[in-house]
Amino acid sequence: MLTLGIETSCDETAAAVIENKNVILSNVVVSSVHLHKKFGGIIPELASRYHVEHINKVVTQALVISRKRLNDIGLISVTYGPGLIGALLVGVCFAKSISLAKDIPLIGVNHLQAHLYAAVMSLEKDWFPCIGLVVSGGHTALCLIEDVDKFTLLGQTKDDAVGEAFDKVAKILNIGYPGGAVIEKKARRGNHNDIRFSAFSNRQSLDFSFSGIKTAVLYYVNDLKKKNEARFQHMAIKAMHPGIDSDIINNICVGFQSAVVKVLVDRVIAACKKKRLRRLVLGGGVSINNYLRGELVKRAKEEKILVRFCDRSLCLDNAAMIAGLGYRLFKKGKTSTLALTPISSLSIET
Ligand code: KG4
Ligand code: ZN
Repeated sequence: MLTLGIETSCDETAAAVIENKNVILSNVVVSSVHLHKKFGGIIPELASRYHVEHINKVVTQALVISRKRLNDIGLISVTYGPGLIGALLVGVCFAKSISLAKDIPLIGVNHLQAHLYAAVMSLEKDWFPCIGLVVSGGHTALCLIEDVDKFTLLGQTKDDAVGEAFDKVAKILNIGYPGGAVIEKKARRGNHNDIRFSAFSNRQSLDFSFSGIKTAVLYYVNDLKKKNEARFQHMAIKAMHPGIDSDIINNICVGFQSAVVKVLVDRVIAACKKKRLRRLVLGGGVSINNYLRGELVKRAKEEKILVRFCDRSLCLDNAAMIAGLGYRLFKKGKTSTLALTPISSLSIET
């Protein structure tokens, strides 16, 4: 059976065709990230307009690459939340139109659940029960996964998502958008012992908070700028812009990344212990980070916990994970009707 997946929850317009459970025949992603770069964050209206312009081409391309036709498709699986409402609407309306026109069953898929399912999709045998951690640009959620349709929330961020914190810190440092990859790269060149930050951690709960560390970086940078200004004034070189030395930027990146990763690793291992589970899956854009992967693998090994990450091609937003989870839900007898409505704040449990 062939499933067509469609994903438009944020700034990626994506479509994929998969055969049965996990044979990916095509996985097409185009991104509007270049339009958002100059604003240092996603502008929802620009993202929606980009989806409108590209959805038809992307779905057509996914079919062409897979050498299949719409008439061959047995299921249409589409992200219905969480995400930007205008962006979600484009994918959901497109999927419903094909479903109606071609009489193909439709299924709405939770984007967060799909990020986690991506880490186990290639396995022939199921890996449940396990603990799941979604670390993306919009979400940080820790959950218990008992089956493809049974996710229980154990903890989440109270403010900024991890990816959002990476993006905001990159904006403070003026090193580009999105921030995750660039911070990881600069952190590799930095000194681990030079600047230390700490992210909120409460041993009583499995929740997260990343707005405090972002503000700590902001204060640190403002302080540096003031000191630099004073130094340059003293030297009477007023016309010169007091920028921050690139070594210091690298060290700030290390300090920030290490603190964030430490909290993520601590909390996820705590969740495994609390639920007495020795299996852990990670998903979402931040899970591509090599430092996070390395630290988690080290700690998990000490605790005799097995960790699975998504294949790198499936970490960021894509439609293969949507098609994969949709197929599994369909096989459990689930479908959506044409009343399927996008939900911007959909919980990971729904
Ligand atoms: O899952 P995703 O593609 O989109 C959402 O569903 O939000 O994740 C995007 C996020 C961005 O915040 C980006 O900065 C972050 O993933 N990211 C990274 C890395 N690559 C992307 N964060 C840390 N390290 C990276 N190498
Ligand atoms: Zn995502």
